[in-house]
Amino acid sequence: MNKEIDLAKKTLKNGNLVIFPTETVYGLGGDATNIEAIKRIYKLKKRPTTNPLICHFKNKEEIDKNFEISKLDNLLINLYWPGPLTLILKRKKESFIQPLLSNNSNLVGCRIPNHPIANKLLESLNFPLAAPSANIATKISSTHPSHLSDELKKNTYILEGGSSTLGLESTVIQTIKNEIKILRLGSITIEELKDKFSHSKITVENFDLKLSPGNQKKHYSPNLPIRLNVLEVHKNESLLNFGRNNLKSLICEYNLSPNHDLNEASKNFFNYLYLIDKTECAGIAVAPIPNYGLGKTINDRLIRASS
Ligand code: TXA
Ligand code: MG
Repeated sequence: MNKEIDLAKKTLKNGNLVIFPTETVYGLGGDATNIEAIKRIYKLKKRPTTNPLICHFKNKEEIDKNFEISKLDNLLINLYWPGPLTLILKRKKESFIQPLLSNNSNLVGCRIPNHPIANKLLESLNFPLAAPSANIATKISSTHPSHLSDELKKNTYILEGGSSTLGLESTVIQTIKNEIKILRLGSITIEELKDKFSHSKITVENFDLKLSPGNQKKHYSPNLPIRLNVLEVHKNESLLNFGRNNLKSLICEYNLSPNHDLNEASKNFFNYLYLIDKTECAGIAVAPIPNYGLGKTINDRLIRASS
């Protein structure tokens, strides 16, 4: 892996882009202090600059240098970093992070990932990495290199790291005094946050475009139409199933977790959506998924995918 990390490092130093694995989904990374690299990310991803990028750091010291951190932020950080938490923090004046990364707002999404390759790459660099999920805007996130589109492959250097272990994106949080605002549902569940932060107010602003511009209705979309919470499968539909039931497809079925395990379902989610989208059928029928814990995040993605 050392040779690959060296090549990735060279690519990034030249202002070019590297796709790298994280525990949530693959990221499309560029030097967060280089405006040309930031422009390249928005362009390649076809994302408007009004939807900011998050910034990946090697350690908390680097974040301390660039951002203000409240008491409640610190509690979240100690629990979840490195890991699937993106925290919206206020940048300090002296920060070298490119303002375009956050569309000139002084609030920036920050994360320390938990993946041996991502962490090794970040360790080798003397700048943080701006990195949205490695997919074209509104399309399915990538949890394996095989999901990457030709356009992304052609224009980047790719660090391969197999399948993402969690499979759903980070939970995006902004704290305001003693309040935890969830701006995007993700791999850390609401139930877990309520349990760990019983003295804080916890709210979900998952559809507020002003607070979280990435929450547009159409997102995570396959090419085929999707029907959710089906009670029966039409004869020309493929089936994305969950648990054991009487649903049957005449064409093809992927079961996110026959054992009704939401962790397993999360890990399989984007991969199965990608695979089922390749089948020859008129549409995708999706079985009901329990609406708690990670099931809430999966349902959030499915609602946007079907919109
Ligand atoms: O798990 C993840 O978070 C992955 C991996 C690669 O780290 N990254 C990811 O990035 O999902 P992206 O850009 O696809 O999603 C980040 C979300 C978007 O919905 C964006 O709108 C929101 O975070 N976001 C970023 N910066 C923000 C900010 N300053 N204020 C509010 N929301 C922000
Ligand atoms: Mg994304």
